Order: sequence, then structure tokens, then C-alpha cells
Amino acid sequence: MSRKILVTSALPYANGSIHLGHLVEYIQTDIWVRFQKMRGHDCQYVCADDTHGTPIMLRAEQEGITPEALLEKMTAEHQADFAGFNIEFDNYYSTNSDENKELAQGMYRRLRDKGLIETRTIEQLYDPEKQMFLPDRFIKGECPKCHAKDQYGDACEVCGTTYDPTELINPFSAVSGATPIKKESEHYFFKLGECETFLKAWLGGEHQHGAGGQPLQTEMDNKIREWFDSGLKDWDISRDAPYFGFEIPDAPGKYLYVWLDAPVGYMASFKNLCDKKGLDFFEYWGKESKTEVYHFIGKDILYFHALFWPATLHFSDYRTPDKLFVHGFLTVNGQKMSKSRGTFITARSYLNHLEPEYLRYYYAAKLTDRVEDIDLNLDDFVSRVNSNLVGKYVNIASRTAGFIKKKFDGKLSQQLDEEQTALISRFQAAANDIADLYEKRQFSEAIKMIMALADKANEYISDKAPWELAKQEGSDDALHMICSASINMFRLLTLYLKPVLPKLTEKVEAFLNIEPLVWDDAALILTDHAINKFNHLAKRIEQPQIDTMVAENMQTEPQKPEAHSQTRHGEAQQHDNPPIADTINIDDFTKVDLRIARIVKAQHVEGADKLLQLTLDIGGESRNVFAGIKSAYNPEDLEGKMTVMVANLAPRKMKFGVSEGMVLAAGPGGKDLFILNPDEGAKPGMKVK
Ligand code: MSP
Ligand code: ZN
Repeated sequence: MSRKILVTSALPYANGSIHLGHLVEYIQTDIWVRFQKMRGHDCQYVCADDTHGTPIMLRAEQEGITPEALLEKMTAEHQADFAGFNIEFDNYYSTNSDENKELAQGMYRRLRDKGLIETRTIEQLYDPEKQMFLPDRFIKGECPKCHAKDQYGDACEVCGTTYDPTELINPFSAVSGATPIKKESEHYFFKLGECETFLKAWLGGEHQHGAGGQPLQTEMDNKIREWFDSGLKDWDISRDAPYFGFEIPDAPGKYLYVWLDAPVGYMASFKNLCDKKGLDFFEYWGKESKTEVYHFIGKDILYFHALFWPATLHFSDYRTPDKLFVHGFLTVNGQKMSKSRGTFITARSYLNHLEPEYLRYYYAAKLTDRVEDIDLNLDDFVSRVNSNLVGKYVNIASRTAGFIKKKFDGKLSQQLDEEQTALISRFQAAANDIADLYEKRQFSEAIKMIMALADKANEYISDKAPWELAKQEGSDDALHMICSASINMFRLLTLYLKPVLPKLTEKVEAFLNIEPLVWDDAALILTDHAINKFNHLAKRIEQPQIDTMVAENMQTEPQKPEAHSQTRHGEAQQHDNPPIADTINIDDFTKVDLRIARIVKAQHVEGADKLLQLTLDIGGESRNVFAGIKSAYNPEDLEGKMTVMVANLAPRKMKFGVSEGMVLAAGPGGKDLFILNPDEGAKPGMKVK
């Protein structure tokens, strides 16, 4: 029986570029959806850009464009990246849409009318210069616990303490550098505490629609129950203007917090699809819905999806999702993705150097139904793709297709012998097991099984050595049947790999001269069938492709807040660099005491053409430095930045005052001057050595 299924992946923030970490999720979801479609099910896959909130608003402002213009640019980039990896959404939309506005505001009204919204006056940090309340991430200061400087408003990266931003010592606004003041404002809260009974029932599988069972994997279920034990806090769902988002009905100047309208974006994207395809929205989202609804998400956004989302859905009279499929995080070479190591790899830079389906294959070979992190080990990636995909799977066709074309007019034999039929039935018999593994998202097990069959096929070919038979008189029939049997095994392997390798499969379908493969085709055997010329299907990865990609990502720092100042300067132009200076020894070098410095203040100097006056914090000590960087930087853009300074340079008396050191910058001058930035995590006062 054909099932009706709606599937989503989390909506990527419009604020950043897609990277290989994101792709774990989109590739996992796409494989699962393609599998369902091959099974003949009616499966819809929707997604959208997650567009609201302060970061988007501020970034658009920095770039001097409207948020809408920024969104347009980002969604085009995201969609091109996804298409590049053959991720095929039935609809890709935006949370900044009419549908989403209507749904999100409507949801709010229903919750309010049920008495689930409450207002309370709270005190928050406010930027008096920028005239806005500051989200935690836009406040920095000294950790109240360990006194580490330059920590974010929600947690200390040094000692791990979490706190309220009002507890920071010497806080400053990351937007303007101003000292925030405390200011009161009325906020709207969703009474999550009152939803506990419902949520427990939902977790217990008592609100199932299209599928039975509990909605969460065991480890995630346990996590949620810990949260219950510590008590469900009411959820602050309002933000004050200026904010980029939807207004709260009947509450002038108040906006819905981005995380309220973001998951509603799943529904909005689907609503938009309904209008295009003539589907019935309520058949999927109405209380009586019998369709299956699944969300694929990363473990970092569980709280939103397992508590707020089902609660807000249920109490605004929609159905709740059947299951959340939660995955772990990507590491590269066993470590967190890192810009300085070049392992923070963007989707685009991967596509510039490597085949998208190689990553799909590698992720599939690693993905399970558990919430564990998966590692992209670049050496292992090269060897698995080369030895399994190219060396085993593609090799089956390379070893046998040529004979069919050359000796048998491109036609497969009319029959197969008993041994061949038995071998092929073993391949066919695996169809159910492999389907079962795909269904349960045990992709790595599915790939293992498929590769074990590929080994069988290769053993068979090696054993029969068709290239020997081709040289012998009177062996044509045997040769014909051996090659035809091999092509049939190759066809079945292709079918099983199709959810993972859709584009490679298209090439194989063209070569085999067959209709697009669906799962039921596993029952067929191709005999007396004309195939086309075998063209090269896949080539091996060469190490330099990997090296170039990593090097490329080492140079770009895509998502740092400072990124805008780099675009402002444009790309550094090609200049003749001065020759390398005379050799020094290590003692010469260590005489120079380099320190990490935070630019606390930057200002113009009255009467100076080239200089900016900087106040630098080098770990408790403050330095006044005049730097000749006015041609390339606005003082506002420098405040809050980290840089490197020479801390033991003799003070120098200048026309405008005493300069107590020097900041380091590269470039020939004029607009092409680039001050140095240490990697994330460096603290003022640290010695550079
Ligand atoms: N905008 C929110 C989701 C809103 S859903 C209503 C968000 N966006 S995100 O761009 O940060 O992440 C999108 C998805 O990618 C999330 O499910 C997240 O867990 C996943 N990943 C982001 N980085 C990842 C890794 N490094 N590894 C694996 N998945 C990662 O969260
Ligand atoms: Zn601390």
C-alpha cells in the first residue's frame, strides 16, 4: 500500500553558507526520501531558509542592503549548493513569506485565546547608542566566575559557566561597543510548564498519526526526560523592535521570536507546495491527519523540536509530528571543523574540486539511526571512494560491458545458466533486507551489504576470467552469458545504490537502456536486451584535489562577524611583494614580544591624515597606540576586534601623544591594509610565539 509521507530537514539559517556539516543532514534526508519514492510512496520533502532575527538584520545593515535583498542572495546560494549535491526538495521556500506570517500569527492567536500566553516585565541589557535590546550573543564582557575577558553574554568559553548577560563584568555591546544599560520591557511568554502532561503523552507515542511508536530515539528520549526533571520553564517568545520578523498581533512594537516562526516554516513551505500541486494542507496538518510527518534534525536543536514545537502545534489545534530523526555532528579528521585547519569546508568549495556523489556515498557508508557524531576522515574518504565505489562497483561494468558491445552487437544473452541464475537470485533476495535498512536509516549497514554483493560479483568475474575466454575459439556463448550475468548483477547493485547516487544511476540507466529504476525492478532480469556503449562512469579521487580544497578553506573565513570588513576592502590586489629579509636566528625573533590585544576603542585623531588612535587591552594592561591604518579602516569597525601587537617596542613620542607599541598589519598601504586577527579563542595578553 502506498504511504503518504511528509519529510523535512531543518531550515538553514539564511545568515551563513552551507558547509559539509549541514550536508550530513540534507544528504541523510534526501537519501531517505529518494528511497521512499523508489518504493512508490507519495513522499513530499520540503525545506526553507530560516530568515528572521537580529543577525540577519544587522548583517544587511552592514552590507548596506535591505534584509530582503540579503535573503534573496542567500537563498539563491543555498539552493545552488543543495542542487549541486543532488538534494531534491519538492519545495524550498522562506520563513519570510505570506504563508508563514499567516500561520505563525494564527498559531499565536490560538495559543493566546487558550490562555497559554502571559506577559511579564523583564529587565534586559540595552544598547543606548544603537537603541536596541541586545541578544546574549551580542553582549561581551568578563566572565563573573573565572574573570576571563571577552566572553559572550550566555556562557564562558574558558570555564564553561553559563550565566545571565546581566552578570557579565564590564559588559560591552558587540554591535556598537557601547556599555549596555539595564532596561525594562514587557515580554510575551508561552506557558510551556502547562504542557507537561501533553508532552509526556506525546513522547510516550500516544499522539501518533501516520506511524506508530515513540517519536524519539531512546538516547534523545532520555535527554528530554532529564529536562522534565529540571522543570519546564516558560518560553520567552517576544522581541522588541527593531527586529526582523513578524509582528505579534495586537502588540505594537513586539515581534515573534525567530524560533517561534522557524518550525512553522515547515508548514508554510508545504502550504506553498499545496498551492502549486493541488495537495490538501489539512490532510497533512489537520488534527485528524493520517499522513506520516517526520523531521530530520541535528542534536543541537532537539529542545525546540521535542518540546516547543509539539506543544505549540498541539495547542493551536494542529497535528504533531510522528517522529524526529535526530543525527549527530560532523567532525573532520576526528576534530571539530576548524577554519584554521582548513576543515571548515563549504559546500561550494567541495563542489569546486570533487564529485558531489562521493560525499553522498561516504556519508551513507557512515550514517546510522543513532545520534552519534560522524567523522569525515579525508584519507579514509579517498580510499573508500576509490576502492569501493570505483574499484568494486563501477569495475563490474568496466570489466564486462566492452565484450557485449564488441562481440555480441550490444545485446545481452537470451538465457543464463543455472549457476548464474542462482547467483543473481542471491542479489535479488537482498532487496528486502536492504530496503529494511534504508527504511530504518541504517544506511551504513545497507552499504555494507551492497558492497559485500559487489565483492561476490567481482569474485565471479575473476573466477570466470572473461578476458581469457575472449581469446579462445568456441567460447562465445559462455563469454556472452558470463558478461550478461555480470551486467545483471551490476544493474541490481545500481538499483540498491540509487537513493545514494542518483546522478550516477542516471548514467547507468542510459548505458543499460532502461527506464528509471524503481525498487520493484529488483525482481526482473535483463535478457535479450540491447544496451548502449559503456562510457566512463566515475574516476578516482586524486590527493591534490583534497589538498587544494583544504588549502582553499584555510584562506576564507566565511562566517566571522568581521567578514564584512574584508568585503569592504575587496580582494587584495596583486602587488609585487618585497623580497624576504636576511635570515635571523631564534634569539633575534624572541626579542620581539608579540601579544594578543583587544581593540577596546578606536578613534580619529584631529589633524592626522593617516593615523587612528587605538586603545588596546593586553590582558589587564591598557596601551595607547597610533596606527597608520586610517586609509583602510573605519574606527567603528575596529572596536571589539582582536589583533596582534608588538608590546615591547620603545614608546615613541609623536605629535599627537605617546605611542606605546605597534599593531601588525599586512599589505602595501592605502585601501590594501589588513590588520592581523588571531583565530577564535585567543585572549588579550596571550603571548604570540
Ligand atoms: N535555523 C535553525 C533550524 C531551524 S528548523 C525550524 C538551524 N540552522 S543551522 O543552519 O544552524 O543548522 C541546520 C541544520 O544543520 C541543523 O539541524 C543542524 O543540527 C545541522 N548542522 C549544522 N552544523 C552541523 C554539523 N557540523 N554537523 C551535523 N549537522 C549540523 O539550526
Ligand atoms: Zn569563565
